[in-house]
Amino acid sequence: MSIFETLRSVVRFRAVELDPVARRLARAADVGDLRRIARRRLPGGVFDYIDGAAEDERTLGDNTAAFARYRFRPRVLRDVSSIDPATSLLGRPAPMPLALSPTGFARIADPEGELAVARAAARAGLPYTLSTLGTRSIEEVRAAAPDGRLWFQVYVWRDRGLVKEMLSRAADATYEAIVITVDTAVLGLRERDVRRGFSLPPRIGLDTIVDGALHPGWTWDFVRAEPIRFANVVGAGVGDGGDPVSLSEYVNAQFDPSLSWDDVEWFRSNWHGPIVIKGIQTVDDAVIAAERGVDAVALSNHGGRQLDDAPAPVDLVAPVRDAVGDRLEVYCDGGVRRGSDILKAVSLGATACMVGRAHFYALGAGGERGVDHVLSLLDGGLRRAMALTGCGSVADMVPELVEPVPVRA
Ligand SMILES: Cc1cc2nc3c(=O)[nH]c(=O)nc-3n(C[C@H](O)[C@H](O)[C@H](O)COP(=O)(O)O)c2cc1C
Repeated sequence: MSIFETLRSVVRFRAVELDPVARRLARAADVGDLRRIARRRLPGGVFDYIDGAAEDERTLGDNTAAFARYRFRPRVLRDVSSIDPATSLLGRPAPMPLALSPTGFARIADPEGELAVARAAARAGLPYTLSTLGTRSIEEVRAAAPDGRLWFQVYVWRDRGLVKEMLSRAADATYEAIVITVDTAVLGLRERDVRRGFSLPPRIGLDTIVDGALHPGWTWDFVRAEPIRFANVVGAGVGDGGDPVSLSEYVNAQFDPSLSWDDVEWFRSNWHGPIVIKGIQTVDDAVIAAERGVDAVALSNHGGRQLDDAPAPVDLVAPVRDAVGDRLEVYCDGGVRRGSDILKAVSLGATACMVGRAHFYALGAGGERGVDHVLSLLDGGLRRAMALTGCGSVADMVPELVEPVPVRA
């Protein structure tokens, strides 16, 4: 037998994948891989806008590290031949305990932007939260995902007329719930954005041109597409052909820092569906939310982008659930990178998790197919962790399934 025949008998050549997106995604085994691909494909300033967080970014790191401080107490011999992570979110069935967090400015990663994320979420049957600072409008996103579960995230503008108008557009477009973000009285200092001179819309300077030349795929998409704008707040002063501004200039000028618990009543009289408060960071505030009768809280520090040294959401889950009982749904938003993280959070008492960067990296790595890919990685990871811990359904996700990792001296 010749050497070639011997080789052929033991080695099979892989079929060459000609589609570059499929090729990239086939090798992405986890969210970390999608992040690395996004970093390679996107200009530095764009990647840093997505990846970065406030000040020393300790909270960003801790949100994820906190999950590693819990480990499983796997049960065996429990017949896991059938695994079903289905649950209910805001009174409607969901195939798994997961929703997609709002992330403004999605078209910066992919020309389809929020439309791509909404379509992928709808295919997976998961709620997608459109940001007030979305680059596709409330109506465009509904048209892209006619049967999708859509939530609308509200930043509270000083101009309440504008907020009221957005709420009525969301209702007309059959959005199911509003998610009021309450951790943004002023914008956190995202130092990577300052160093990059990141502005909205992106300002073109010499560094942008060099960065663009190094990322031709992104640049080609960007110059061909219509200008990026805040599609939901047209007329509110940015992206309407006006001068570029930094995100902090914009937010600090437009958002209402006087927002208080009493405003929940204002929302109730202007929105007749479920209300989620996003940005709860203490048990005390979760209890107030329960007393005010909101439908859900998202335990969240905005992915570490606002106050550095805020608590990791997963650490709040158990104490918040103890304090609020079944009065409201509790979402764990921040640091979720794996399906097993979802199993940990739900076992500790969360109703579901929310993911921000996971889907944004995926969008940057492979557009809409990237988002499909990350949702299937999270689903696969959750099912695998369920099987390996003897957990057949959400009813089996109980606090006894996890424990803190002992601190070693
Ligand atoms: C690029 C980016 C943009 C975001 N934009 C918004 C936004 O417009 N509104 C909002 O409430 N939260 C926003 N967030 C926060 C996310 O909704 C979510 O709280 C956070 O990403 C969760 O952490 P994770 O990225 O570790 O999943 C944004 C996060 C990122 C990474």
